[in-house]
Amino acid sequence: MANVRLENIKRRFNNVTAIEDITFEIPNGEFWVLVGPSGCGKSTILRTIAGLENATSGNLYIGEQLVNNIPARQRDVAMVFQNYALYPHMSVAENIAFGMKMRKMEPKVIQQRVGEVARSLSLEHLLDRKPKQLSGGQQQRVALGRALARQAQVFLLDEPLSNLDAQLRDDTRAELKQLHQSLRNTTVYVTHDQVEAMTLADKIVVLNRGKIQQIGAPQTIYNQPANRMVATFIGNPPMNILPAKFTGDGFDVFGQILPISSVMKEQLKLATGQQIDLGIRPEHITISPSPSLISVEVKVVEPLGRETLIRTALAGSTEMINIQAGGNINVHPGERLNLELDLDYLFVFDAASGDKLYP
Ligand SMILES: Nc1ncnc2c1ncn2[C@@H]1O[C@H](COP(=O)(O)OP(=O)(O)OP(=O)(O)O)[C@@H](O)[C@H]1O
Ligand SMILES: [Mg+2]
Repeated sequence: MANVRLENIKRRFNNVTAIEDITFEIPNGEFWVLVGPSGCGKSTILRTIAGLENATSGNLYIGEQLVNNIPARQRDVAMVFQNYALYPHMSVAENIAFGMKMRKMEPKVIQQRVGEVARSLSLEHLLDRKPKQLSGGQQQRVALGRALARQAQVFLLDEPLSNLDAQLRDDTRAELKQLHQSLRNTTVYVTHDQVEAMTLADKIVVLNRGKIQQIGAPQTIYNQPANRMVATFIGNPPMNILPAKFTGDGFDVFGQILPISSVMKEQLKLATGQQIDLGIRPEHITISPSPSLISVEVKVVEPLGRETLIRTALAGSTEMINIQAGGNINVHPGERLNLELDLDYLFVFDAASGDKLYP
């Protein structure tokens, strides 16, 4: 059993605070994904769990054991690094077998495991090659294989698919999900990729500037973001953010008035004249035949097959609003559209702090 518990973990490099007061507990067998902008501390958290980095303060537990002072190689964790260093003088098979050899596992078992892992990652035909004879994507799969072969209690994966092309990335992602469903190892996975985070995670941890913004199941993070940062970070295209002013009866969005119901007005608890940011996802905006709504001009139309992304600008401003429409819609740049915002999906954020004010 290996749950992973971080208690008030902090890591400072000279005067840079890489992570600050990180506390969470991953239950045994769950797959957690850390996301956030570059430099927010994802790799530092992973390296701290692995024991490659010492926390400046705080406690780290793997299972019930406090591991602050336990060296990396005694932690029974397997890690795939962001820059997947393979042993250059070893073949693919030897690279995959390395961790198991170190653990003095039986050669027969090792050979069998290497075969299994190579098959699941489509590396069978490459087993005799050296890393420099492989493409970046192939090297990355070997690094993944080396970690998976170990069958460690905890897997730590730092952007393990980032060097794969789109198709291989999709396939390997599905493969990883399947592997986790059968192995059930506690996994901490770092990515920039929305789709990976949404599809793989039991829980997503959204980080910004070394601090946790929100922890939740993918659907919760998407549907109930805790603040503007989470709302705009998760989702592609991101949630639209429109600076606006509360008029008492609705919102003034660059001179265009968005009326609201009296029920909503009561729940809002905003002061008349207060500056806020409205948030609404592209899929919660529809194009309406009625002229009295938010008026925009079409700038760019991006047909994606199943759906069409329409990038528009609010009339009288440069403020962009992205709309997700059906695949068969026929609109053109320069065209004027009237938009209807589904107010059941409207968010209100404090303009300065980004804190959520509604719902
Ligand atoms: N060895 C180090 N010395 C000094 N500063 C460091 C060191 N390692 C990381 N940092 C700093 O700590 C912060 C967090 O870095 P970290 O590598 O954890 O970010 P990240 O979220 O993994 O980013 P990326 O998405 O770019 O990989 C950054 O500001 C980084 O510059
Ligand atoms: Mg990193």
